[in-house]
Amino acid sequence: MLTIDILTIFPGMFSPILNASILKRAQDNKKVCIRIHDLRDYTLDKHRKVDDRPFGGGPGMVLMPEPIFKAVKKIKGRRKVRVLMTCPGGITFHQRMAKRWAQEKNILIICGHYEGVDERVRQKLVDTSVSIGDYVLTGGELPAMILVDAIVRLVPGVLGKEESLYDESFEQGRLEYPHYTRPADFQGLKVPRILLSGHHRQIQQWRARQAETRTRRQRPDLL
Ligand code: ADE
Repeated sequence: MLTIDILTIFPGMFSPILNASILKRAQDNKKVCIRIHDLRDYTLDKHRKVDDRPFGGGPGMVLMPEPIFKAVKKIKGRRKVRVLMTCPGGITFHQRMAKRWAQEKNILIICGHYEGVDERVRQKLVDTSVSIGDYVLTGGELPAMILVDAIVRLVPGVLGKEESLYDESFEQGRLEYPHYTRPADFQGLKVPRILLSGHHRQIQQWRARQAETRTRRQRPDLL
């Protein structure tokens, strides 16, 4: 079973996401074990301080190394763990990484915060710093949830047949073809006739062409 530990200063943010839908089912079915750790539980002072002003001056606060080092040591124990950290300066997350990390046994995600995290954390503890895109969020918690979601759904046995992986965007270097369901005519907007024809081969060809056109238009960089 894959174990994912998440180290955060906002442990309360995670429960609505982890306790719904496929992520909840994956945990109930023992495909993944997700544990949230409050960084403040590893602080050294009575104010439970996790951050301080940057050496050299400048705005914002920096997460201090001591609580993070202490937490990571305790959480890892003797296990071999892949340590990820969310930060806007990391390498951009991609489906390929989700696939690779879905095969790990143990993952620890450190949620970055404030102006940043003391560089010695990255130097000594982190295997990969990950950004979820070229924009800046208020913290690394939402990015951590996105990593968890993208990774866990790729763990064998998590998705049922109905939710199967094969035809999805990025799986074959193409975006997905358009989908339709009932009614066949919605306010005059008709479902393409080919999809109602029952000709499986022609439907497949139509979908491949649609995926190609859509990718060319919206994401030519994938081709
Ligand atoms: N923290 C703030 N912005 C982020 C981003 N885009 N990706 C990962 N972590 C972040």
